Amino acid sequence: MKKQLLALVATLAVGASALAADPKLVINPDQPGPVIHRNIYGQFAEHLGTGIYEGMWVGPESKIPNVRGWRKDVVSALKDLKVPLVRWPGGCFADEYHWRDGIGPRNKRPIKINTNWGGVPETNAVGTHEFFDLVEQLGAEAYVNGNLGTGSAQEMSEWLEYMTGEGKSTLTDLRRKNGRDKPFRVHYFAVGNESWGCGGNMRPEYYVDLYRQAATFLKTPENNRPLFIASGGHDARTDWTEVLAKGLKGVPFDAISHHGYTLPTGKWEKKGSAVGFPEAEWISTLAHTQRVDEWVRKNTALLDQHDPARKVGFYFDEWGSWYDPEPGSNPGFLVQRNTLRDALLAALHFHVFHAHAERVKMSNVAQMVNVLQAMILTSKDQLVLTPTYHAFKLYTPFQDATSLPATLENNPVYKVGATEMPGLSATAARGKDGKLYVGLVNANANQPAELTVQVGSTSPKAARGQLLTAAAMDAQNELGKAPQVLPQAYEAQAAGGRLTLKLPAKSVLVVAIEG
Ligand code: AHR
Repeated sequence: MKKQLLALVATLAVGASALAADPKLVINPDQPGPVIHRNIYGQFAEHLGTGIYEGMWVGPESKIPNVRGWRKDVVSALKDLKVPLVRWPGGCFADEYHWRDGIGPRNKRPIKINTNWGGVPETNAVGTHEFFDLVEQLGAEAYVNGNLGTGSAQEMSEWLEYMTGEGKSTLTDLRRKNGRDKPFRVHYFAVGNESWGCGGNMRPEYYVDLYRQAATFLKTPENNRPLFIASGGHDARTDWTEVLAKGLKGVPFDAISHHGYTLPTGKWEKKGSAVGFPEAEWISTLAHTQRVDEWVRKNTALLDQHDPARKVGFYFDEWGSWYDPEPGSNPGFLVQRNTLRDALLAALHFHVFHAHAERVKMSNVAQMVNVLQAMILTSKDQLVLTPTYHAFKLYTPFQDATSLPATLENNPVYKVGATEMPGLSATAARGKDGKLYVGLVNANANQPAELTVQVGSTSPKAARGQLLTAAAMDAQNELGKAPQVLPQAYEAQAAGGRLTLKLPAKSVLVVAIEG
């Protein structure tokens, strides 16, 4: 009996010391992984609510300062974010969009009903020329989403000719007449959107046939050939990836798109509130991001079977938080507040996408302004930068950086009720400037964390960067009020031969490691 008791005490002691062991981040600088494509930090702007109209486009006659109709303040904030890519015009809107409605004199363009988003009038004031003006002002790449749902192969092929054609033709002359002599540079072109749902309720086999037919006619000059994207599945589904990977061989096809949104409750009928939520919804939201990792893993494993040379990309071209609409707003406008929780959710997505950088060469947060998990919220001539904006800004050094293996040892478990997740998440990369960058998230809403950092077999001397945190889980930046979530300068020096990083509860940290 005494012997058993002693054994139990010994086991408990070992358990306690294992629990108490400090978390440690071990980075291997000698085994560089794939480059983290800057387009992982891509954006999405759909004709939806005030995402484009009011939020970004006010028209050249507006009193709000603008450049050819695009708000100066918004464009300037987005330029600071180094937005690498913008996807347009949808989303569900794309499969009802007819590009000819959006060219020529704006006062003569047809007014349609935006049947997907609130049933409001769509003036077509923003069309092809305006979109390319925006991406050129931003210095970003253009991702145009074609209409397969209510469009046709002919309509898509003519749009491509209008945008990219060099020689003389009726369509290229029309583009010139509308003010653009040289072709627009189209970097990416997608055939339909969510064809399993709002894009036509198709089966993947039927989509494959339509894609094959359309892609046959999607021709551009060789020096302006976009990467062609097939519209894939969503969330945990793998059937679309499988059928597309098998069925699209032999036609222009560069990537499959996939979508996955984060709902705190996981239920579309009652998604959960953007503010004033309990800790159970804080953790359920963040734990959801771990499932994004599993979705990407399963889908890319399938792609590996059909495309072992890993030529086909897996683009996560819609992601972000989706909450119950802001009370009093038009539910079709998808207006929601943005809090510290969204900043952590964004950072956790970045870590997943970095880990799969070989296939995931693009992702697009939904959406850029005023819609869902937006970077910027506007009201009349005012704007506010959201916590998500600041998370994107912190991670800009990861654009085009080279990923490095980073292992978290003794990662504490964060648990609320029946939901649990790793307390810490980390990513590491060698930036284009040669510096070693580390991104960290402490998901625990209450407990700070400390971790030591090891690079190879050595202990670095210092870390410098920026920290994002706040007192409340739902801290936000509101128009006309002092912002509650702003990056703060962060510095840590090694002591006793160890570099220790201290992370407050519910925080995101990006640092350059020195020495
Ligand atoms: O981002 C809002 C909508 O979500 C998009 O239009 C659609 O593709 C998705 O269902």
